Amino acid sequence: MDYLQIKGGNKLQGDVVISGAKNAALPIIAATILSDKPITLTNLPNVVDIRTLLKLLGMLGGSVDHQKTVATIDNSTMSSTKAVYEIVSQMRASILVLGPLLARFGECEVSLPGGCAIGQRPIDLHLKALEAMGATIDIRGGYVRAEAPNGLQGAKIIFDKITVGGTENIVMAASLAKGVTTIINAAKEPEVVQLCEMIRDAGVKIEGIGSNELIIHGTNQKPLTFQETQIIPDRIEAGTYLCAGAITQSKITLQQVNAEDIRASMNKLEEMGFSFDITPNSITIHPCQEIKHVDLITTEYPGFPTDMQAQFMAVLVMAVGESLIEERLFENRFMHVSELNRLGADIWLKGNIAAIRPIEKLYGADVMATDLRASSALVLAGLVAQGTTNVHRIYHLDRGYDNLEGKLSKLGADIVRLKE
Ligand code: EPZ
Repeated sequence: MDYLQIKGGNKLQGDVVISGAKNAALPIIAATILSDKPITLTNLPNVVDIRTLLKLLGMLGGSVDHQKTVATIDNSTMSSTKAVYEIVSQMRASILVLGPLLARFGECEVSLPGGCAIGQRPIDLHLKALEAMGATIDIRGGYVRAEAPNGLQGAKIIFDKITVGGTENIVMAASLAKGVTTIINAAKEPEVVQLCEMIRDAGVKIEGIGSNELIIHGTNQKPLTFQETQIIPDRIEAGTYLCAGAITQSKITLQQVNAEDIRASMNKLEEMGFSFDITPNSITIHPCQEIKHVDLITTEYPGFPTDMQAQFMAVLVMAVGESLIEERLFENRFMHVSELNRLGADIWLKGNIAAIRPIEKLYGADVMATDLRASSALVLAGLVAQGTTNVHRIYHLDRGYDNLEGKLSKLGADIVRLKE
């Protein structure tokens, strides 16, 4: 197993190029199931989760030609509709094949994703919505078996909670359904928007893109023909590099990034004292005198993202004064707290609220990554901790960060990947 060794204290400088968004690429890869013609995707991040989902398409009988950031996918040969436990248990986002498989083939079996380090993460809302569209759903032997032999029927779906994956699954299912589907309380994250735009560009009429109400006019099982699609920049990777600039008090420039998508994170960094130069595809962060404490609450887009909570906590450890973070999306997304405390942070947890108290300094130690974003928070802390920090179990990082140690060392960090 690999681990990252970081010697803290270096200032960063220079440019970092932001990769394509994992969370945009995953639903887009799943959406290719809606087509029986080849499609090319560009600007894919070179991360494990992308390879896992492409492997699943191959197991379903699709043909995939994948080179680092580009994949050409041809699902005309798709012959199986069973997404097996072996893959789904590695990556929850595999559940995104449920809607498109059911819509195109009228039946499918998808393994239930099971437990997750950040919370329970049920899929009840996906299933209820598909049932409202006429699917019969049966859960047996750890699998969701879904059937709609005569195709899915457009319906009015009201999500009890805003769900990114649920919205994506139902948009994909609705695009091949008979008639009109209305999704009320839809997610409007940039990744959902890109999925909708790709399906719209394939000829499906979708009203309300980017809003909480989507109206999708289905094709009645006619497969879609997609155009080549370039994946949008990863707003969470971008936010993580802004935090790297912030925690090390360095001036760095992010290239190939869209500032609009990370407005909530930038607003918080401004409150903390940092400033920015922004161009249409770059952001430069400037250091500040001292990091001011702030409070933040995670919520749906355009609010502050849960996927940036751990990284901000690492930066706030270095702030003057006490900060409060309330995590509203995932009940267990605080596994990084005890690891940050091993590095000398003073963070107290009560329920879903963390109090981050000021400290003089962090000290390097061995720490364990527990999930993707928690891992990047530990790397950020390692950049300023005195001495050596070893971040173990970095397979979590490899799922979603494209060459994190390479990009950070190019910026001047002392970070290497080693074998246990
Ligand atoms: C997506 O997960 C992202 N994953 C997550 O990123 C992100 O943290 C999350 O959205 C929230 O922004 C991908 O896009 C692949 P949800 P998703 O359905 O779709 C509850 C990362 O680090 N819920 O919007 O699974 C759920 O438990 C990852 O890159 C139900 O109760 O999230 C949560 O409390 C981690 N029933 C809330 O809704 C359901 O059927 C939002 O979850 C579905 C969700």
